[in-house]
Amino acid sequence: MTRKRIHLAAHFPGVNNTTVWTDPRSGSQIDFASFVHLARTAERGKLDFFFLAEGLRLRELKGRIHDLDVVGRPESLTVLSALAAVTDRLGLAGTVNATFNEPYELARRLSTLDHLSGGRAGWNVVTTSDAFTGENFRRGGYLDRADRYERAAEFVRLSRELWDSWRPDAVAADQAAGRFVREGAIGTVEHQGAHFSIGGRFTLPRSPQNHPVIIQAGDSAEGREFAAAHADVIFTGHGTLEDGRRFYADVKSRLAGYGREPHQLKIMPGVTFALGDTEEEAAENAAEIRRAQVGPQTAIAFLEQVWGRDMSAYDPEGPLPDLDPDLSDGVSQGRVAIKDRAAVAAKWRALAEEKSLSIRELVIEVTGRQTFIGTPATVARLIDEHVQADAADGFILVPHLTPGGLDEFVDRVVPLLQERGAFRTDYAGTTLRDHLELA
Ligand SMILES: Cc1cc2nc3c(=O)[nH]c(=O)nc-3n(C[C@H](O)[C@H](O)[C@H](O)COP(=O)(O)O)c2cc1C
Repeated sequence: MTRKRIHLAAHFPGVNNTTVWTDPRSGSQIDFASFVHLARTAERGKLDFFFLAEGLRLRELKGRIHDLDVVGRPESLTVLSALAAVTDRLGLAGTVNATFNEPYELARRLSTLDHLSGGRAGWNVVTTSDAFTGENFRRGGYLDRADRYERAAEFVRLSRELWDSWRPDAVAADQAAGRFVREGAIGTVEHQGAHFSIGGRFTLPRSPQNHPVIIQAGDSAEGREFAAAHADVIFTGHGTLEDGRRFYADVKSRLAGYGREPHQLKIMPGVTFALGDTEEEAAENAAEIRRAQVGPQTAIAFLEQVWGRDMSAYDPEGPLPDLDPDLSDGVSQGRVAIKDRAAVAAKWRALAEEKSLSIRELVIEVTGRQTFIGTPATVARLIDEHVQADAADGFILVPHLTPGGLDEFVDRVVPLLQERGAFRTDYAGTTLRDHLELA
């Protein structure tokens, strides 16, 4: 069996409770210096790409802005364009919504990023899970789920038509002859579809990658089909060995239906990690990080999202109150909805009783430990094993600190992955497609 090469990316810590703000080393999440630090660290480690998530409405809990959103979140493509100037090889991928944007404009911005960066642009196509966010975009109604993916698919197909519309051979011939590019070298795009109607010419010649890398991050059956048909990479939450293998097999099996090969879609779960000089120290670090991630307020906030009630009067260090969840409309807006709150509440109660956990201990337990915990050697081995066992093609690393949370991984784990022959020691190509072996 041939050994699979690992792909790695760096997620810029975002407005979720994975990011620890109480740590004195925590820095700004909107200063350019923070983006530069993480991007340069990722490039020093020869990672495939730098990744930005997106949020288009501040989340709310009980009608108030969710605490972690108060730090702010800049617009992805603007940040990535600036990063293109201070990095050379690192891929630059941003999350941009396909429900609230227009193809002509977004295709132009992505093509511009691809030109400016010498072929390093990636687009994470998201559709958004809620009408709450839609209120920031005046379209009257809100698309339901099936229509959102249908719109996203037409959006990507049309973007590709626009990106392909200039004839590279004719453009090159004109340029070689030292004359202006003639009209005939610039094709027209005529598109009449259910969601878009466009007739005209694109403003840019083909970019170095032709098509920026397409990433997908939804988990429903529709989302998986969309990925199988259109995406080059999936960003997923299925990061554990068994869950990852199930997801991997499911998605890769869908590719044949679209005439595609398994290697044409890279599966990259988002994962967290905690390191230490010994296994014991790593476990202690992991536990300490978890306590910092689930502070008293965060513990109550998680409980409220499941119980659908104001629980602020309860002591987070005390027991779970004997109270049933309110199953009418939830109190939380702008987060991916918890599907069956009654079942989740019953499960949490059983766990709290079984292990005599306080509210905070319970939330620490149910919100999951770090994916990879151990010495650098252990973490390198586990990452390699997950990839070789087809639980993933690589990982999007989610550090818990801005901006230095990737430093230790790059300094201590990457060299060991390189020693194992599992990860590149230098970039072989110049584009993100090259790094992902998609070209
Ligand atoms: C791992 C992961 C990361 C996501 N990141 C974002 C994001 O940064 N911004 C966003 O608007 N939606 C994000 N989403 C939401 C999805 O794109 C999608 O809109 C949502 O999950 C609903 O689609 P689904 O029903 O297919 O899951 C993410 C989803 C997953 C699974």
